[in-house]
Amino acid sequence: MNPADLRIDVDRLVERLEALGEIGAVHGPNGERGCARLALTDADRDGRDLVVGWMHDLGLSVTVDAIGNVVGVRAGSDPTAAPVMIGSHIDTVRTGGRFDGNLGVLGGLEVIETLAQHGVSTEHPVAVAFFTDEEGARFQPDMLGSLVYVGGMALEDALGVRAADDEAQLGDELARIGYAGPMPCPAAGAPHAFVELHIEQGPVLEDEGVTIGVVTGVQGISWTELTITGQSAHAGTTPMRLRKDPAYVAAEITAGVRAIARQMGGTQVATVGRLELVPNLVNVVASRVTMTVDLRNTDEHLLQHAEHRFETMCTRLAADEGVTIERRTLARFEPVEFDERMIDLVDVTATRLGHTTLRMPSGAGHDAQMLARVCPTSMIFVPSVNGLSHNIAEFTELVDLQAGADVLLQVVLELAGPVGGGSP
Ligand code: HGY
Ligand code: MN
Ligand code: MN
Repeated sequence: MNPADLRIDVDRLVERLEALGEIGAVHGPNGERGCARLALTDADRDGRDLVVGWMHDLGLSVTVDAIGNVVGVRAGSDPTAAPVMIGSHIDTVRTGGRFDGNLGVLGGLEVIETLAQHGVSTEHPVAVAFFTDEEGARFQPDMLGSLVYVGGMALEDALGVRAADDEAQLGDELARIGYAGPMPCPAAGAPHAFVELHIEQGPVLEDEGVTIGVVTGVQGISWTELTITGQSAHAGTTPMRLRKDPAYVAAEITAGVRAIARQMGGTQVATVGRLELVPNLVNVVASRVTMTVDLRNTDEHLLQHAEHRFETMCTRLAADEGVTIERRTLARFEPVEFDERMIDLVDVTATRLGHTTLRMPSGAGHDAQMLARVCPTSMIFVPSVNGLSHNIAEFTELVDLQAGADVLLQVVLELAGPVGGGSP
């Protein structure tokens, strides 16, 4: 068969997605089937073990690096050529779905199996990778593993990161689950190119009735943790004029960042995702609040403007209420533009396969935004039903899984150079 006519086996892909989705499975009241596999937990270890087992079954040579990134490589005819890498992540948020990240990794294994099944070899090796802690939900920043992989964060600093929930240290957790690997970080050589298949996680493709998102880049991300310290007091006896109430300030900040995003419009978004009161009791004015603010924009100057307005608001509120506000940056990445040739390759390939396409930036962060620092990179989006993700109702239709993985296969073949083969 002509390699250009090869298509993946979507039932085999779904079988793997289902099997991986059962690890850390979360079932909702309306039949939703999500996933909770926070980075470096036992569930993450079990998911890793399953995927590594599939990599070995496919005859890949598997390596693990010092931050736990796993890379499986299928040899090419030219052993000196850098691999074409397919990658994403298999860690999830606590209320995650079965497609976020998993589709990109298992789509890569499906590409490998399709090539092998049809006896197609390639000039460049083809690698499939999953990176540690893409979500950043337990250990910040997000995309931590791929950031270390490309040399954007020192390994020692990453190993020393403490978990947001239980203060566990990343390096200890990595060793505990058995994925502190021998390969050096940053990686010795850069891939020839990097391609990530991912669900859109938003409503655009579905609203536009388009099958393939041709991702042009990733918007900038600014994560801040605030510790607001006031004065614990009796809820009944303390006059309002004497209060130093961090819960009130946190509420003002929550409403305030939303107002900033609304007033700025465009792609500006703002989210308060974590909010913890101490002592969190009905009849006690809180002494302390810890909260997070996630600001994003496709334009760096506008993101800085949003950050400035956010900081000015915090300063004013602290002075008015007599509380202190301590800020800690959890993540800060500027917007990334992907390689034009790679963007065109995804667009042309998807069109050749008969799919509708839309060029669009990514609202979510991805490992691809880190790999773009070291090699030509692009992403392929497929629609999310109701635009939902980071929600156990996350879903993508079979026909779109087929389309996205077929585009991935053909883009990889274009990059890796098929060297004949192909069963008659
Ligand atoms: O936060 C993000 O955009 C990604 O899910 N880590
Ligand atoms: Mn993801
Ligand atoms: Mn995610």
